[in-house]
Amino acid sequence: MINIAIDGPAGAGKSTIAKKVAAAKGYIYVDTGAMYRAMALYLLRSGIDRDDTDAISAACQAPEITIEYRDGIQVVLLDGENVNEYLRTPRVSDMASRSSANPDVRAKLLQLQQDLARRQNVVMDGRDIGTVVLPDAQVKIFLTASVDVRADRRYKELIEKGEKADLGEIKAQIKERDARDMNRPIAPLKQADDAVLVDTSDMTIEEVVAAITRIIEEKI
Ligand code: DC
Repeated sequence: MINIAIDGPAGAGKSTIAKKVAAAKGYIYVDTGAMYRAMALYLLRSGIDRDDTDAISAACQAPEITIEYRDGIQVVLLDGENVNEYLRTPRVSDMASRSSANPDVRAKLLQLQQDLARRQNVVMDGRDIGTVVLPDAQVKIFLTASVDVRADRRYKELIEKGEKADLGEIKAQIKERDARDMNRPIAPLKQADDAVLVDTSDMTIEEVVAAITRIIEEKI
């Protein structure tokens, strides 16, 4: 099977790029962040405190999180319910960032992610795909962009959706999430030794897709 790993911080453009690369290649796109978000949603619905590590460890065993593809779109099922529309709220983002540091949460989702990649050609994006989930991936990309650029992209996205947004607040949240993702003891966000670094700060989406397509063609 062909496995392509795309890691990087929040807002670097991983999902946009990974989706396009997967479509171009005819591979399955696996958004592992959505799995952590589904777990976070389950924990929130269960009334679990975001700082109660023991409760998170105990509760995370129960839900069944599965992935399906409907019309080429990844659908995350939490105990059979399509929860896609609930995964992008600030509350879920915050809980996902905290609960994803829990080793029991990670062990459970790791299994699911590795099973998916064993069965089909995938472009998988996340934080630890090249380092932990798919250490033997044929292609590893570390996608990044400056904090200012990432905050600006997120700000524009929210304004376009007609939502209220504060650029300073978004920047602070991005910095806080980066720090948590990079400094946790288990599977922190880190560039794999054999990953190719792509800084998208001054690149358009088309330029990034073209650069990654070139890297894939060189390696496979
Ligand atoms: O990529 P995202 O923003 O949807 O990810 C949500 C959270 O899950 C984020 O705080 C980091 C975490 N995550 C992780 O720890 N490992 C992954 N492979 C993917 C996401």
